[in-house]
Amino acid sequence: MSNETLTVTDNRTGKTYELPIDNGCVRAVDLRQIRTGPDDFGLLSYDSAFLNTANCKSNITFIDGDKGILLYRGYPIEQLAEHSTFLEVAYLIMNGELPTSEQLAKFNHHIMEETHIHENIKVLVSGLRYDAHPMSILASAVAALSGFYPEAKEVKNSEIRRANMMRLVAKVSTIAAYAFRHSQGFHFNYPNSDLTYCGNFLTMVKRMNEAKYIPHPTLERALDILFILHADHEQNCSTTSVRVVGSSEADPYSAVAAGIAALYGPLHGGANEAVLRMLREIGHVSHVPEFIRKVKAGEGGRLMGFGHRVYKNYDPRAAIIKRVCDEVFEVTGKNPLLDIAVELERIALQDDYFVARKLYPNVDFYSGLIYEAMGFPVNTFPVLFAIPRTVGWVSQWEEMISSPEHKISRPRQIYLGYGHRNYVTLEKRH
Ligand code: ACO
Repeated sequence: MSNETLTVTDNRTGKTYELPIDNGCVRAVDLRQIRTGPDDFGLLSYDSAFLNTANCKSNITFIDGDKGILLYRGYPIEQLAEHSTFLEVAYLIMNGELPTSEQLAKFNHHIMEETHIHENIKVLVSGLRYDAHPMSILASAVAALSGFYPEAKEVKNSEIRRANMMRLVAKVSTIAAYAFRHSQGFHFNYPNSDLTYCGNFLTMVKRMNEAKYIPHPTLERALDILFILHADHEQNCSTTSVRVVGSSEADPYSAVAAGIAALYGPLHGGANEAVLRMLREIGHVSHVPEFIRKVKAGEGGRLMGFGHRVYKNYDPRAAIIKRVCDEVFEVTGKNPLLDIAVELERIALQDDYFVARKLYPNVDFYSGLIYEAMGFPVNTFPVLFAIPRTVGWVSQWEEMISSPEHKISRPRQIYLGYGHRNYVTLEKRH
């Protein structure tokens, strides 16, 4: 055996084992041979929140949390945000390479052609309550799409998989726009495949009764950059949900609906919504020190938009977003909550509590301010996250389902409940 091994001694038995190390990992199943006797199931590893467990091998996104590096297929996020477009990045993530201009034109055309949705989805959205959260509308409508494309169940067929990945990326923007319009009580705008992905989305969201709505180019580009920044982020909570649901060979609409459900939570994609609510609650720059005191004392909840499971230095996306903020505010006028956010960041970054715990602003700390300045209500913020993340979800799903190592996800547990006990009839219970 090479020296790429780990030697473990089980002090319960005195036995020593040599476990291979592959790509910096030991395989959890190799621990199974470590047993105290024939009745022992074998050693398990316990990691309830996946703090130190790799659940897949992936070629899509690389993050170095200590150095603040984020790469899609090897390309730094800063370069993509500066030079690329959302659909070009979508092509890159979904196919592994940057497209030629011909490939990009074909991809753009295909995606934009697929933005139309069945009229029955419109009916489904209309049937939901007027004040339903747009994320619950999105999750329901995306799950319902599986009924419109029953062949999507053929997950072993790569052509069918590819067709449904394209549909998901395209249609999620239309459904998201419908979710927004429904919550406002406005008529739905049909998609226009002559526009860019973000231009079309903004038009579906914003157009009222003008014959032609033209989004402001700075805002269209700002949204495009935000979509690039959110397109994938390796094995986060929602992506893991997509992989786990997809591992049962459920169709990709059902798997992505699970991803949307996971993204809904305030510790994940709901954080940008929570940031805005927090800033409003603080209300004024002068209240910031008291708010920070409460957070530290555990009285005021968390400082939303701060901290990340992986980034322990800074979130490279947050730095890009701060620049986009300035460009957007030049068009829309400054969001008055910005001063509170800047003051929160200033105080937190020099406070021992946050420094010691390596808590820095994450992607969501400033994105909500931009979305609000662009006229989106806070409950649509997570939806604006889900649209671009669909690119990551479908790519990770494809990678999982086409992997030779693909198996249904099924963790183990540490059972701490009762041992065997006999049933007691109702009359004998007291
Ligand atoms: N405000 C105050 N304290 C915090 C925060 C925060 N935002 N985040 C973590 N901490 C503290 C915890 O209380 C804990 O302190 P302790 O050691 O004294 O108990 C310590 O920092 C470590 O926190 P964990 O919860 O163990 O860190 P974890 O990696 O599990 O959580 C998470 C990461 C969920 C992002 C967390 O930092 C958080 O809740 N942040 C606020 C919500 C948020 O912005 N989420 C968006 C994440 S980015 C995204 O999903 C796109």
